Amino acid sequence: MTDHLTVVSHPLVQHKLTLMRRKDTSTGEFRKLLREISQLLAYEVTANLPMTTRTIETPMTEMEAPTLAGKKLALISILRAGNGLLDGVLELIPSARVGFVGLYRDEETLQPVQYYFKVPDSLGDRLVIAVDPMLATGNSSVAAIDLLKQAGAKNIRFLCLLAAPEGVARMKEAHPDVPIVTAALDERLNEKGYIVPGLGDAGDRLFGTK
Ligand code: URA
Repeated sequence: MTDHLTVVSHPLVQHKLTLMRRKDTSTGEFRKLLREISQLLAYEVTANLPMTTRTIETPMTEMEAPTLAGKKLALISILRAGNGLLDGVLELIPSARVGFVGLYRDEETLQPVQYYFKVPDSLGDRLVIAVDPMLATGNSSVAAIDLLKQAGAKNIRFLCLLAAPEGVARMKEAHPDVPIVTAALDERLNEKGYIVPGLGDAGDRLFGTK
């Protein structure tokens, strides 16, 4: 993956995203749509994984068949909304290892503070896909990627549902080696750091909280 930003313009992704954005979409529908979209996005973010072959027997003959190369990849959910993307991706890649990064925003410094960090071993030997639906200011995404790099990750991709230009620029500045895959690049952030037109608070919409 070479482009820093890939916007997945597939009609199914765009249609489902429109349904998710609507304010009268229920929590149950939102969750189901996010799961479906995450699988379509996972297809894109894994499009050029390294391959090898192995010898298998079909009912007809022996053959050299393509298979994924290297260690199992690591999916890292940035809590809590990341879990909505994680579930769908994991359905598609069930053998992936899974980690979690929890960050909250200090109300005084406005900087992300870590409260949870648990990741698979040998991170440096795995493709690491960090998932978080909303790339808004980029503060928490940059902090999460910092932590993953400190833990040894070298080959990281970032998967989100919506991105704001401010967040993409911040990620590009801090982590130009981390490609981003998203379903849409929205217009801007509002004064509270929400993506506009966006879809509101992804965690609240996913879990039915306010
Ligand atoms: N996080 C969200 O859940 N929504 C936004 O619009 C921005 C950050």
